[in-house]
Amino acid sequence: MNDMNEQVIDVNHIVKRVATNGSQKPLEILHGISLQANAGEFLSIVGPSGAGKSTLLSVMSGLSKPTSGEVHLLGTDPYQLRASKAAEFRRNQVGFIFQNYNLIPALPAFDNIVLPLRLAHKKVDPQKVETLLKKLNFAANPNNFVSSLSGGEQQKVAIARVLVANSRIIFADEPTGALDSVSRQIIFGLLRHLTKQGICIVMVTHDIEMAAATDKAITLRDGRLEKVLNQPTAKALFQVLNEEGR
Ligand SMILES: Nc1ncnc2c1ncn2[C@@H]1O[C@H](COP(=O)(O)OP(=O)(O)OP(=O)(O)O)[C@@H](O)[C@H]1O
Ligand SMILES: [Mg+2]
Repeated sequence: MNDMNEQVIDVNHIVKRVATNGSQKPLEILHGISLQANAGEFLSIVGPSGAGKSTLLSVMSGLSKPTSGEVHLLGTDPYQLRASKAAEFRRNQVGFIFQNYNLIPALPAFDNIVLPLRLAHKKVDPQKVETLLKKLNFAANPNNFVSSLSGGEQQKVAIARVLVANSRIIFADEPTGALDSVSRQIIFGLLRHLTKQGICIVMVTHDIEMAAATDKAITLRDGRLEKVLNQPTAKALFQVLNEEGR
């Protein structure tokens, strides 16, 4: 069993600059962000469009190296690993639900879902996948190509893929953005269930009600961490997000 007090994410003084076409000067998107999370914790990241939420998530999750600062996931710095080890670490420990789903359109839904398991040489249990899809109210045929699915169905495939993989940390970028409110509730319930098993979830969302149901909400503005709200309420979040002019 996972120790709930174990720190699984430790991110310190993250700065991210990117090269831009227009000018010689790189653009600084994140200006020095630090945050920590424990096993079993459900974190949400909220903030206006363009605040740097997706960028922070990719840096935190080992997908995009920070310009400076440190990232440790389960005590490991993913940017210090050699490429093959880094891929193995991501496959075995970390799950992602991307804002753009990141599915393989030319593969059936089912194959997309079990791809991480196959890559990790883990056993694939079709029954488990079927049960999960049923829970997610997935109405399409899992043998259909992803390219033929609706946005919401694709999102459910991306979520199912993460749920079957048994990752210890899950990073989710607006995982319920394309979904109806019933599906949103179901997915939130499934994610919440995972945290009870010691899995740590970091979720970017524009949905204040959903952020209010997480353990800790972090608000970002202009590439800076604005506030950390423990046991956030929708009212408190709304207040922070509505403050402007700084
Ligand atoms: N590779 C890049 N090159 C140039 N600018 C970038 C790059 N990546 C991100 N940005 C800029 O950095 C800022 C933060 O982008 P990011 O995608 O992290 O925002 P976000 O908070 O996730 O927004 P949204 O809520 O719309 O998804 C934006 O202004 C974006 O245009
Ligand atoms: Mg984003």
